[in-house]
Amino acid sequence: MHRITLHRPDDWHLHLRDGAMLRAVLPESARHFARAIVMPNLVPPVVTLADAMAYRQRILANLPPGMSFEPLMTLYLTEGTDPSDVERAAASGLVKAVKLYPAGATTNSQSGVRNLDKVMPVLAAMARIGLPLCTHGEVTDPQVDIFDREAVFIDTVLDPLRRRLPELRVVMEHVTTEEGVAYAAEGGDRLAATITTHHLIINRNHILAGGIRPHYYCLPVAKREKHRLALRKAATSGSPRYFLGTDSAPHVDALKEQACGCAGCFTAPNTLSLLAHVFEEEEALDRLEGFVSRHGPAFYGLPANNGTIRLEKRAEPCVWPEKIASDAGPVTVFNPGFPVYWHVVT
Ligand code: DOR
Ligand code: ZN
Repeated sequence: MHRITLHRPDDWHLHLRDGAMLRAVLPESARHFARAIVMPNLVPPVVTLADAMAYRQRILANLPPGMSFEPLMTLYLTEGTDPSDVERAAASGLVKAVKLYPAGATTNSQSGVRNLDKVMPVLAAMARIGLPLCTHGEVTDPQVDIFDREAVFIDTVLDPLRRRLPELRVVMEHVTTEEGVAYAAEGGDRLAATITTHHLIINRNHILAGGIRPHYYCLPVAKREKHRLALRKAATSGSPRYFLGTDSAPHVDALKEQACGCAGCFTAPNTLSLLAHVFEEEEALDRLEGFVSRHGPAFYGLPANNGTIRLEKRAEPCVWPEKIASDAGPVTVFNPGFPVYWHVVT
């Protein structure tokens, strides 16, 4: 198989940022993706329906002429979030999920949740109306090793929460462990997991062996090889529980390449080519469309996109820019470290 045509894909977890960065990175996603679940971790965060509407307008205003792209907005859950505002947000049709950041878990998560009891009225309202909760699934307890934080979150936060509120629809965002994919597999149709492109490609050696590589550092951090293999198996399984959320998370190089560098891999420009490469390696090219174009809309209760996108395997490898320019500074594009021959041709 050297050519594939897919229903136009969506990205179910994307950081578009704001201002100069938004301007620079939005076309990179809009070129290939019809829609994306847009993360709300701006400074200040996107907390209310009014915040989300304003941010949505800023995104649409930055869309280059001739490109179409639908931002699916999310609200950043805080301990002060008003359940009735969340209900109005869902009713607007423009807000598709609420995002749980445990306070301190990742970039701009300081306004996140410290005590889940404080947000139970919001979560109960979401369970009632069917609005999904997207979770950054890591505990923040400094006693817990960073490589164990996802598994501990599942046992001590997510599973108890789902027992308290069995109707709540949950997306385990960017799962990185075999425990994560196993938990998603057993959760029934109210539970799903997104998987990033980079976690299918790198393990923790890529970050740390032979020198520290800041552009491979993201959160949740990439784990051991056995976890990468479990993610590949899940993503290529054809199960509707798993779909693409790139977590493409641009930071300017100056903020990545410093003593305390930011977390995030910028994969929007080359994600589809990389996924075709991975799915071909796993002999699962016929399952790529489910992962990038079908399972996500089905979970969110949306139709798949009408348009299509074509990929073609050529003799020459893809050439991507090493960096894209933004008025805030250069942003390094994720480099898989091997040649990729699958070109996006439309
Ligand atoms: O690597 C990451 N970058 N993980 C996150 O959870 C946040 C993101 C960001 O906003 O930079
Ligand atoms: Zn993210």
